[in-house]
Parts: sequence; C-alpha cells; structure tokens
Amino acid sequence: MFDVKNSILERINIADFTQRGITLYVKRDDLIHAEVSGNKWRKLKFNAESCLTKKKKGILTFGGAYSNHLLATASACSSLGLESIGIVRGEELNENSNGTLKNCARLGMRLIFVSRAKYQLRHEKAFIEAKGIEFPNFLIVPEGGANYLGMIGCQELISEIKIEFDAIFVAQGTATTSCGVAMGLNANQEIHVVPALKGYQSIDEMDRLLIESGIDEEWRNQILDKVIVHSDYHFRGYGRYTHELLLFIKEFHEKHGLKLDPIYTGKTMFALVAKLKEEVYNNKTVVFIHTGGLQGVSSIEEKSGFKLF
Ligand SMILES: Cc1ncc(COP(=O)(O)O)c(C=O)c1O
Repeated sequence: MFDVKNSILERINIADFTQRGITLYVKRDDLIHAEVSGNKWRKLKFNAESCLTKKKKGILTFGGAYSNHLLATASACSSLGLESIGIVRGEELNENSNGTLKNCARLGMRLIFVSRAKYQLRHEKAFIEAKGIEFPNFLIVPEGGANYLGMIGCQELISEIKIEFDAIFVAQGTATTSCGVAMGLNANQEIHVVPALKGYQSIDEMDRLLIESGIDEEWRNQILDKVIVHSDYHFRGYGRYTHELLLFIKEFHEKHGLKLDPIYTGKTMFALVAKLKEEVYNNKTVVFIHTGGLQGVSSIEEKSGFKLF
C-alpha cells in the first residue's frame, strides 16, 4: 500500500497573512505518490483493500480523458497485483490520445471508450449491473472514487494533522474528499469547499453522498453545518481556466515553491488567498489540502502554450 507519511504538513509564509497572525499550512497529499497522488490514494485505499479481501480480480471504474482518478486506479492496481478496467468518456479517443491515457495503458489498464450518451448512464443501477455481468469478479468503483469507502479514506487525513486549526480548504469535484474531511472535523472547525464545476450544488451533492453512505439526518446536519461554499472560483467551469488563474499558479510557485494545478488546487488556493483577506481570519490557523492533480499539468501547458513551472 502507499505510504501517507510522505504527506507532510508544510508551513507557507504569505507576508500579508503572517503579519495578521494567520498561520497557513499545506497538507502535502500530493507527495504521497507521483501517480496515486493527492486525494486519489485516500479514495482508493479502502476500495483496494476491499478488492483484495474479497479476492476480486481488480477494479473497474470510470473517468474522462484526463482523469487523475483513472491514472491513480491503474497505478494502484498495477502495484497491488490487481487488474484494472477504465470506462472512458469519448468514443473518439484511444489509448494514445493523451499522456494520461497513455500512462493508464502502460500500467496495464484495459481502456474502453464509450460515447458521451453511454457515459451518462454510469450512475444508473441497470448500467452498473450490466457491467458487473460483463466483467464478473471486478469491484466497480464510481467515477472519482465517490463512494463510502472513498469518503472514509479521506476522513483519515484529518487524524494526521497534529496541530489545532480553525479552517481547512479543499477542492471539490464529486464531493467525496470534502465529505470525508468534514466528517473528521470538530464542531468548531470550518471546511471551505471550492467546486471546480460551474453551477455545482455543493451542499446538495454532499448531502446526497452522505445519504447514500447511510449517515442519519442529525449527523448529516452536523457535518454540513461546518461547510462554507465558495462557488465563484470555477474559472468558467470544469476543465477550464483563465489567464489570470494560470498567472496566479505560476507566481505562487515562484514565491512559495508550491506547484498547483489549474483544474482543482489552483482554483482552491486562489479562493483561499481571496477569502483570508477578510479580517475575521486574523490570528487563525488555516490548512489547505493539496489534493494532487499535477500529472495533468503538462498537457495543459501544451494546450494553453503557457509554461507554469
Ligand atoms: C486533484 C484533484 N483535486 C480535487 C478533486 C476533487 O475531489 P472530490 O471528487 O473528492 O471532490 C479531484 C477529483 O477527484 C482531483 O483530481
């Protein structure tokens, strides 16, 4: 299994924040592993354990063309002696379409490319059952590792933070990481979530995932009461970014030596820097979770013609 000891808590000094007594830490989950990086191992850990315990052949999961989750699944399965199958959105693609898919194939993942219409069915019970029949003895993990086992894997990271803190910032895609993290916080701690998708209904999505996981209403309300949503930092939507965001990421790296990605963590750090300008955060201790995503940066640099690092 992958070693989370690499995920250190690193202090970042932003002069304006330090002067106002704000202590900022980054939980470096991006250091867990190059491919099974960030929240990916958190979400896969118990799924992989369940796969091994149940003596399944491997994991079948879903993702887009640049999916961090697909690559992490391919890499984790390859290390653990498991097979992996990736159902990929886009029938026009193939395993040479980009670096992420090439790496998935290199790691032995069987890639199955489906139309967008077919991919839409990925949450439907009948579709999942059909996949179970087609690929018997595979554990089916939803897109982004969005299940209960994924959530409790993310909850674990809170117990590794041995300092007291007031607020934690995390990027949101499927809301699995934020649900798990929120479950691990105490009632006085805030969780700030930054959805990478435009129009994403963070609270509804978190509630849905918690309901699916069998968490009762009282506990769900306690969890959701800690959540503060920053929905204006999607930079035009999922997979999209602006010059302002790319510049922010470049400058942040130059000043603080921390690499962020333009799909999730860059947007979240941008929101954090904006939010902590408010006086209420004076003298607070804040943690940013680095959820990884750096494997996709080179294709973004290629596409945008903007050199980030
Ligand atoms: C790098 C990165 N950060 C954050 C997220 C969002 O996590 P979640 O889908 O658990 O909300 C993802 C997607 O899984 C991701 O790849």
